[in-house]
Amino acid sequence: MPLLGIREQWNRSGMEDLLSVEGNWRKRRVEPVSRMGEIDRRTFVKLSGASAAALVFGTGPFTEKAMARVRFEDYPFKLGVASGDPLPDGVVLWTRLAPDPLNDEGMPDRRVTVQWQVATDERFRNIVREGDAFARPELAHSVHVEVGGLAPAREYFYRFRAGPDLSPAGRTKTAPALGASLAEMKFAFASCQQYEHGYFTAYRHMSEEDLDLVVHLGDYIYEYGPNQYVAPGGNVRAHSGPEIITLSDYRNRYAQYRTDEDLQAAHAAFAWAVTWDDHEVENNYADEVPEAGSQTPTTEAFLRCRAAAYQAYYEHMPLRRSSVPQGPDILLYRRILYGNLAEINVLDTRQYRDDQAAGDGTDPPNPEQQDPARTLTGDAQERWLLDGLSSSSRTWKVLAQQVFMAQRDFDISDAERYSMDAWDGYLGSRNRILGYIDERNIANPVVLTGDVHNNWANNLKANFYDQSSKTLGVEFVGTSVTSGGDGADTTPGNLAVIEENPHIEFFNGQRGYVRCTLTPQEWRADYRVLPYVKQPGAQIYTRASFVTEAGNPGLQQAGETQVPSRPASLVETDVERIRAQESAARGGRR
Ligand SMILES: [Fe+2]
Repeated sequence: MPLLGIREQWNRSGMEDLLSVEGNWRKRRVEPVSRMGEIDRRTFVKLSGASAAALVFGTGPFTEKAMARVRFEDYPFKLGVASGDPLPDGVVLWTRLAPDPLNDEGMPDRRVTVQWQVATDERFRNIVREGDAFARPELAHSVHVEVGGLAPAREYFYRFRAGPDLSPAGRTKTAPALGASLAEMKFAFASCQQYEHGYFTAYRHMSEEDLDLVVHLGDYIYEYGPNQYVAPGGNVRAHSGPEIITLSDYRNRYAQYRTDEDLQAAHAAFAWAVTWDDHEVENNYADEVPEAGSQTPTTEAFLRCRAAAYQAYYEHMPLRRSSVPQGPDILLYRRILYGNLAEINVLDTRQYRDDQAAGDGTDPPNPEQQDPARTLTGDAQERWLLDGLSSSSRTWKVLAQQVFMAQRDFDISDAERYSMDAWDGYLGSRNRILGYIDERNIANPVVLTGDVHNNWANNLKANFYDQSSKTLGVEFVGTSVTSGGDGADTTPGNLAVIEENPHIEFFNGQRGYVRCTLTPQEWRADYRVLPYVKQPGAQIYTRASFVTEAGNPGLQQAGETQVPSRPASLVETDVERIRAQESAARGGRR
């Protein structure tokens, strides 16, 4: 239980003050690094130079003096601010100093002191916490402040100062007290934001919602060079630099995405809980196995690339010290709690998975896919998840993860074909988790999914081949923010997939995000979609809403569909776009 676990350890050893001494790196040496032992160490290779972990845990060689009085060549807060991983008494605050963000940041090769402030009001009249932190060159001058001592379920405002420059202000919210009875919790989840495929209009609208949290399910960046991955009809923006492999490449790519004002607005508006999918490293990689045709084809070359990618991910996300990378490993799975109403099990289905069965792709059932020894989560994460599910007293048990969990047979004849990259390709893992939920009568599991660039809503069955079998829970699959371009409401092929898979209730191929409202009685999911993303400024509307009741598993369609201001065609007829959408759904580049 990473978040809760670490907290408890601090409390037990009387080290709460750690939370308010950001910037004192020597004190951080008492951090319980033994947690790192829980990581699957199989693939660990020692990289030359000081690792990120050595820096954060204070075991590296730091002799340089911090630059408190510094002047930047340009405004250093061009990447905005962010917050994340809320606890009842605190949250992680993030920023990164980068006056020249797309060209290796434009910072002196020295650490810089950054002041931070947390206030109860937008004008920072009532400051309740403040302190100093270091922005280190080894971590791309990113700053991660784990603020503590805040009140539960409360809105706060935060900002940073470096030298003469003040950051934009962010708003965040702490989690409710452990075990608190909550009447309601609201969050949105999103995934898949290929920068070249469209504008991040969805995030502009998301930033105007009333949310407690944003959950990101991966494909936050894409690794491709400019126009290597083209949306139907062409790209509207271009990646800077070639396909990314090195630490500098990954940093510049994150910086390019983070310069987007709509994305910045959504980060500044809410605390986020993030996890990754494949494109944060490379398309469809599996643990230490790169994709076919990779630029880093050997295990060692790929793990170096993965270490660079993971480090840049940490540097740009509001993550706690429990997620500091060690070489090519990060402990990213963790649990975020909302009183007695919900627990969000944030999963990592890329770092520990076995290689895709049958050479990856969309395949008929095969022995490798059915091998119960193969895993999507790794054994340690699976055990952690199942133990958590069986001991949880919270109403909604959320699995915030990447790939399609419900069975999805793409072959509309009597034959069957499944995506080997999704849970369909790892039947051992799916059977163990859904079987455990079934046997132990785990109430109200809700799976959240990204990856496939389309909206779906699924019932999770005890036996997908038998529609009369028990419904165990539901899966809400969220569309992309931009990946795939404008999209369309539906395609004939995907309507046929619904016919073929009766536990699947809904498909939509537009862009947007899913807004969830949880109460002790019901979970409501609103599929928020945009008529287009290849031009800025689209209005958002709710395409469909589904409800699932606590104690009564299964989807119920709810509410009226809003009429879009500029409707997308109901059925896609453009052959090129149909082909792109259906290939994405089947397991092309996603
Ligand atoms: Fe994607």
